[in-house]
Parts: sequence; C-alpha cells; structure tokens
Amino acid sequence: MRFSGDSDYARWLDAQDPLAGVRAGFCLPPGKIYLDGNSLGLLSQEARLELIETLQVWETLGIEGWTATERDWYFMTERVSRLMAPLVGATEDEVVATGSTTLNLHQLLATLFEPNFDKNAILADSLAFPSDIFAIESHLRLRGLNPETHLKKVDSADGFTLSEEAIIDAMTPEVALAVLPGVLFTSGQLLDMPRLTREAHHKGILIGFDCSHSIGSVPHALSEWGVDFAFWCSYKYLNGGPGAVGGLYLNQRHFDKRPGLAGWFGSNKKHQFEMSHEFKPALGAAALQTGTPPILSLAPLHGSLRVLHQVGIEVIREKSLSLTHYLIELCDEVLAEAGIAIVTPREAHRRGGHIALAHPHAFALCQALRNKGVIADFRPPNLIRIAPVALYNGYQECWQAVQMLKELIETRVFERWIDTTTLVP
Ligand SMILES: Cc1ncc(COP(=O)(O)O)c(C=O)c1O
Repeated sequence: MRFSGDSDYARWLDAQDPLAGVRAGFCLPPGKIYLDGNSLGLLSQEARLELIETLQVWETLGIEGWTATERDWYFMTERVSRLMAPLVGATEDEVVATGSTTLNLHQLLATLFEPNFDKNAILADSLAFPSDIFAIESHLRLRGLNPETHLKKVDSADGFTLSEEAIIDAMTPEVALAVLPGVLFTSGQLLDMPRLTREAHHKGILIGFDCSHSIGSVPHALSEWGVDFAFWCSYKYLNGGPGAVGGLYLNQRHFDKRPGLAGWFGSNKKHQFEMSHEFKPALGAAALQTGTPPILSLAPLHGSLRVLHQVGIEVIREKSLSLTHYLIELCDEVLAEAGIAIVTPREAHRRGGHIALAHPHAFALCQALRNKGVIADFRPPNLIRIAPVALYNGYQECWQAVQMLKELIETRVFERWIDTTTLVP
C-alpha cells in the first residue's frame, strides 16, 4: 500500500521527477529546505549569467549598451514582455514588463477607472493584499469619492477563502470596476477567473486580477477569458530577484485609452527620441510604461523567464499540483493529531502553488522551523505558508518539512518563540 508518510515513497517520487535537471540550475540555499518561493523565488544560473553579462556590457560600453549590442537595453523590455505574455495567455502587445505590482495597479486604475453618476464604486475583497487596497482607496480619493462608501469589500465566511457566489452577488449596479486576486496570498485559493470575468461583464463591470501569486505557477488565458486588466510581481514564481520589475496586462479592447500616468517610455519608440512634447503612445500595454526601465532588474528576469519558457507552464502546473497534493496527503497523515488545519481548498482547480496551514502558534512554529533550516513563512493571524516550487523543490523536502513540523509540535520546542514579535518578510 502506498503511504505518503514514508520517506522511501518521497525518494521514489523525486527519482521520477522530470524537472530534476531544472532544479540543478537553481542556487538552493545550502543546508536549508527552501519552501518560500511564493515570497521570493530562488536565483537560477540563467538569471545570474544575464545579470553578469549586463554588468559587463555596462563596464565595457557605457551608454552604448543601450544600442550597440545584440542584446541592446533599449528593447530589453520587449524581450522580457514577450516571455511573460504566454504565462498569462495574452498576445505580446497586451503585456509589458514594467513597474511593480502596486505601481501597475495605480497605472491601470488611472487608465481604466472612469466613475460616472451611476457606476462609481470599486469592488475588492476583505482578504486582499493591503497594498492593493491602499492603491484603490487613493484612486477613489483622487476622484473625490469616499472609500468608506465607494470601496465595496466582499467578506470571507471562514476568514481564509472567498466564495465566487458572494463575489458575484456583490457585483451590484453601482460597481464600475473589480480588482480581485487570482490566487489569494494567504490561503492559496485559486479563484475562478473566467467565471468572475463573465459575470462582471454581464453586469457592465470592468474586472482585473492581481496575479502575483498565480503567474509562473498556474496557467492563465486572460485574453480568451476577456479579462480587462491584470498586474503582478516577478519576484515570486518568476524568480526575477528581490524587487524585480513587475508586469501588467491590458486587454486589447482598451488599447484606445490614454495612459492615466504617462511618461516618455510609454512612447512609440520610433518617435521617443524626437523629444517632442506631443505624446505618441506605443501600441498596447507598452504605452503604460513611464520612465527608463531598470535594466539591471530586467536582465536576471529575462534569464529566469527563459527557464520557465523552456519548461512550459503546463508542465510546471502539473508538478506543482502533484507536490501540493502530496503535501496535503502528508499533513493529513502526519499532522492530523497536531492541531493543524489545512485552509487551502483541496480541489486541484481551486488551489494555486502553496498550502496554508492554520495553527494558533503559527508564528512561533515558523520561527522554530527556520531555526531548523526549513524556510516557510507566516502570515497573520495564524497561517504557515509552504510553497513547494515545481522548478526547484522535491517531495523529500516536503516530507522533511512536515516531519519537522510534527517534531516541533510534539516536543513543544516552538514555545520558546511564542513571545517573540518580530515579523519577517
Ligand atoms: C498579492 C500581492 N499583491 C501586491 C503585492 C505588493 O507588491 P509590490 O510590493 O511589488 O508592489 C504583493 C507583495 O508581496 C502581493 O503578494
């Protein structure tokens, strides 16, 4: 009989892993079990090489790096965007690598949120990442609207997940635009983006998704689903590095909109250096860029995206689901008596790339795990997030992490961290 709690079985699974060779191309922190790729993805050799090459171009060519090399910096954004587009299921001109998650949401709201007498509210949810809420509130205020009355947040019945029915019920006539997560940063729930998009459009609402926790982990078909806009970061499953350049998606039906926040890098490149005061925008999402792109951030991201591209998002999703399924089975078997509850939906089509476990002492347990070399993370109020990343994690690591958790709970070693309060990123 197969038994998930058996380490031989984990070893056997790792031996079958078609992505074992890909893992070898990543820098795994020595002596650690790294299960935090949904916070910060790891460095790959490809990313490192592209960064070093870019530094060498700067070192040897100076300003001519913008134009003189085969990999000129001037069109680096286009090369990176081209590799991002298939990850969200969009055409190349609907995606641009730019800004950060928060800045991109600001840009999209500045461009697309056009409140009128009848429709002037924004729909979000009570579990949204705080920065998204701050951005939404500032756009309401900028248009003279009060967030207290014009930001509508869908509540969660269990504090961890959202119900699509509740979201759809909240799509009332005054809602002009909805901003929702693709995958919830806390519980790892994957929302039904195509269904929500259909329902929003049926009610005349523009809809966009924060794909920070889904890009690079879950396949998307944003164009096919008709999503209006999306935005994401690149430092999680895209392994672009700390603070890496983010990305945004703008459905082509909005290509006629003027960028809410314009800048010269949003220009059509044929005209950018004419230095005219007449703004001639680039076609599509590229028009939503503002200033000079951070080349030293785009370089490793390009290297890292090549890895994802070579493997393919469908293969990544298949292994990711297998890893999270294994983790769920293990937790059921090994931690059943330990007072830990899995709050991530169990159905494959409702979960993203990580598993969230609830425990009253989740923070102390996370600290104790880190102390033992197992890197997972804590999110308030009581969640331990464990992200086995398809490109570089394996089944034995999941096995070891769960055994460690069991041991820490049984021996109550974690208690010495209960009163520590430092929150780590
Ligand atoms: C879901 C989600 N949205 C937004 C953000 C904010 O991203 P940034 O700091 O890159 O703007 C984060 C950051 O981790 C996030 O996880």
